[in-house]
Amino acid sequence: MRLDVVTIFPEYLEPLNVSLVGKARARGQLDVRVHDLRGFTHDRHNTVDDTPYGGGPGMVMKPEPWGEALDSIMASGEAEGLAKPTLIVPTPSGRPFTQALAVELAERPWLVFTPARYEGIDRRVIEEYGERLEVHEVSIGDYVLAGGEAAVLVITEAVARLLPGVLGNAESHRDDSFAPGAMADLLEGPVYTKPPEWRGRSIPEVLISGHHGRVGRWRRDEAFRRTSENRPDLIERCDPATLDKHDRAL
Ligand code: ADE
Repeated sequence: MRLDVVTIFPEYLEPLNVSLVGKARARGQLDVRVHDLRGFTHDRHNTVDDTPYGGGPGMVMKPEPWGEALDSIMASGEAEGLAKPTLIVPTPSGRPFTQALAVELAERPWLVFTPARYEGIDRRVIEEYGERLEVHEVSIGDYVLAGGEAAVLVITEAVARLLPGVLGNAESHRDDSFAPGAMADLLEGPVYTKPPEWRGRSIPEVLISGHHGRVGRWRRDEAFRRTSENRPDLIERCDPATLDKHDRAL
């Protein structure tokens, strides 16, 4: 998968060299290219923003540098024989980023991110590329960040770990919270490892019972309990057919 990021803070994307995403890059599973938006300006001050039409606080990102950056990125992909990219515009006004969207994006061969600073990007940029590409305006949560770069890190990590061969153990996203499957509507429950006793605290006996049925039942009950406590909205929204008699008794 190829990923391009256009930003005025290229150094903000340094974490893409680390850990899971960094390793995927080193293995050639991810081709990440970070571009400095100011490299697509032509004035002495490398201006990327201006005052908003209609007045109001803050500044708006000018359309010209974004247009030049995106055209140049698209031309480079075309020269390499890639089909059109999917454009991801991080913004608190976007649709919520979910595991389902991560799964959808993991199937795309090429993503281009346009993290903005200030009050956002001149709307005409999104209109222009919306007519040429698949565009997703995406929010990572109901809070406002100072810019979209942190959202790019979040979305990239969620997508990269779904790519074939990126996670060491292909089973390890089977039980993820929000993963499709038997416990699709529930959050993951607690986990334990050795030693069996730590600071006077034991692990739940059932986990060393060797009884798969009882372990499975326990995991489901814990997942249900945690979901009821932390995300009652998920239980209310779920298909009642996915709950069993035991859940309902809890
Ligand atoms: N930019 C600023 N806040 C954001 C958010 N919550 N999600 C995505 N991009 C953002």
